[in-house]
Amino acid sequence: MAEYLVNEAIEDYAFLSTGPEPELLQELIDGTNANMGWPQKLSGRLVGRTLSMLAKLVQPKQALEIGMFTGYSALSIAEGMPEGGKLICCETNPRAIDYAKTFFERSPHGHKIDVRFGPALETLDTLDMELDFTFIDADKRNYLNYYERVLEMTRPGGLIILDNVLWSGKVLQPESELDDVLVEVNRRIAADSNVENVFLTVRDGINVVRKVR
Ligand SMILES: C[S@@+](CC[C@H](N)C(=O)[O-])C[C@H]1O[C@@H](n2cnc3c(N)ncnc32)[C@H](O)[C@@H]1O
Repeated sequence: MAEYLVNEAIEDYAFLSTGPEPELLQELIDGTNANMGWPQKLSGRLVGRTLSMLAKLVQPKQALEIGMFTGYSALSIAEGMPEGGKLICCETNPRAIDYAKTFFERSPHGHKIDVRFGPALETLDTLDMELDFTFIDADKRNYLNYYERVLEMTRPGGLIILDNVLWSGKVLQPESELDDVLVEVNRRIAADSNVENVFLTVRDGINVVRKVR
């Protein structure tokens, strides 16, 4: 289960008051819990429905995900993308990729997803495209690198969404280099007049950033 940073009863109420994800995604949650190590990596309903809602509003044609795991957030984003849209997903765990693909094959949105095996920074080197929408959710040590690379590739008006920006609350009292990375990426976003953002206390925190210029 996700750690609760806001009052647990409030978190449960928000969960129950948010419409359910499609049945296939509920099956994916159950399957991930049963079959994969670290099922808590999966972002879950509140983050997933937020991603789906934002994608439906933005209608991204070219999207990117850094850290796909078993495909929950990827399918949530793809659900909001128009026909012909393409979501490139970076992932280093072959077992997670194989598992995710069994769900992509069964989803009406799975054909929009293009999985790239390997470290995301290497995959980014191979991409020559303008991004409308990106979800960053892997390898926190590189969060600042991911954010800066993706910001360059994002069109004005495009969105970048970063997960786990509360970092279990450690951003308030950073003690490690890793904690400092999360603090620094949040500080830079808030101080950058070329972007506008909203920091949502959903689950472990999601920072929604819109590139202005
Ligand atoms: C938190 S999970 C992603 C969860 C997924 N976004 C979801 O909501 O269901 C992070 C994933 O990033 C992958 N990962 C770790 N380091 C990576 C890297 N350097 N490049 C690409 N993926 C990486 C891990 O294997 C893991 O599956």
